[in-house]
Amino acid sequence: MSAYAASVKPAPFVTPDTPRAKFAFQLYAAVGISVFLLMMVAGVIMRAGQGAWLGIPPNYFYEVLTLHGAGMVGTAGLAGAAVMWYFLRRYVELSNGAFLAMMGLSLVGVVLILLSIGLGGFAGAWTFLYPLPGHGMGLWGTGAAATFMIGYLAIGVGFLVFYADCALAIIRRYGSLARGLGLDQLISGKVDPAHPAAVVASTMAVIVNVLGILGGAIVLVMTLVALYEPGIAMDPLLMKNLIYFFGHVFINVTIYMAVIGVYEIIPRYTGRPWKVNRAFLGSWAAVVLLVLSVYPHHLLMDYAMPRWAAAMGQIVSYLSGIPVILVTAWGALVNLHRSGAKWDTPLRLVVLGVFGWAAGVIPAIVDATIRVNLVMHNTLWVPGHFHFYLLLGMLPMVLGTLLYACTREGRASAPLDKLVFWGYAIAGVLFCGVFLDSGVHGIARRFATYDAPWIGYAQAGAVAGTVVLVCVLFLGGRILARLPRASLAA
Ligand code: HEM
Repeated sequence: MSAYAASVKPAPFVTPDTPRAKFAFQLYAAVGISVFLLMMVAGVIMRAGQGAWLGIPPNYFYEVLTLHGAGMVGTAGLAGAAVMWYFLRRYVELSNGAFLAMMGLSLVGVVLILLSIGLGGFAGAWTFLYPLPGHGMGLWGTGAAATFMIGYLAIGVGFLVFYADCALAIIRRYGSLARGLGLDQLISGKVDPAHPAAVVASTMAVIVNVLGILGGAIVLVMTLVALYEPGIAMDPLLMKNLIYFFGHVFINVTIYMAVIGVYEIIPRYTGRPWKVNRAFLGSWAAVVLLVLSVYPHHLLMDYAMPRWAAAMGQIVSYLSGIPVILVTAWGALVNLHRSGAKWDTPLRLVVLGVFGWAAGVIPAIVDATIRVNLVMHNTLWVPGHFHFYLLLGMLPMVLGTLLYACTREGRASAPLDKLVFWGYAIAGVLFCGVFLDSGVHGIARRFATYDAPWIGYAQAGAVAGTVVLVCVLFLGGRILARLPRASLAA
């Protein structure tokens, strides 16, 4: 056995591959793929509505927008957590019960959210910006808004259970979260190249997302209080800060969890280990602070915000994505260069994920520049950049990992895969490009109906979105068909 094969061989303390663990993984894969596909259908419906191909009354459009936003963000969280669990359990002992509890509580949350939107007509968007939930203006009532908030709280509790289990497991194995993150090695300069990248990234995700979710829990409870005690006036600026702190951290961490698939899968194709070094550990340590402090770039147009906060939002945005993206993109290129790796579909997908993440961050950084934000704020430039790194970054990393897990014993590529892969990548770039170009031309985001000059953009987006949907349907179908044969072994 090669030194590399030995290094990725599960250590004796690895979580056992019981039928329950396999069931948990299969459940996450099945739920994740099904909900992603359903939410994509919702996305295409919105684009077709904006393109005047479908007549969707505005109140329904905003219900679909709320469903799509909350559904996609929640599923991205669960799918990212599944990637993290799949690989982290090779290094530390995780509980299947905690992992399943996150899914159980999330499903309770999903039912509540579906009831609030479907029956209650709640359409206050996934960002539930105060005081909007309490102002349904006849479209939804207090009960519907409260049900939505309680649904979010249930999902948040589920994630906290999972992260608590991961934190305990990392502490049991490495002594502390700081050691899991590799801070001791960073400070002493004695870096152990075999320290798993998956553990470093997971530790970052645990620290950052627990804080993000706690911020979310506070603002959700404040929203509930405001709904039932409207006499208690909340500070809208504080509420907005808490919401964007939570929202930014949560959606960002979905990528930081999914990228573990890149660190683990590329080496298995190239036969070269992903060695951590000081730059890698330093980047992941820095990103803990950067992801927590960057959210004011969502509030650049809030003139009540202190000037220093806006300046910090811009400066930290320039710094925040760069270190980890650089070490990941550079590390992936170096690992792949002249490795003779076989370009199976899982490898293609995770490499597409690195591209989508790295490229998508560029328009995000542009928009975080105060001068640019003055023009681009609330235009379609915003969905343009986040769809880029979610649809072409996070999602391919997740699909690549799931396909990898399901094809360990069997063919990783099917005859049509190449065509579907390129269809996904090209249509995905076009779909996001249409959003970005619409933003450049000043088309507002979150508009249910469009003026005549905007309609062509929406139609182009609807066509590209449909192609993406068909390609993901194909890849998702392949994963679901092979799910019974999924392997949890390294
Ligand atoms: C075929 C794929 C997809 C299509 C067609 C689609 C379509 C759309 C559309 C039309 C909007 C509203 C844009 C506007 O403001 O006018 C939107 C918003 C959004 N999408 Fe997607 N989307 C897709 C995939 C995704 C994915 C993969 C994610 C995340 C994992 C995602 C997350 C979101 C979020 C968070 C919003 C913002 C909702 C809001 O403004 O409240 N979408 N999408």
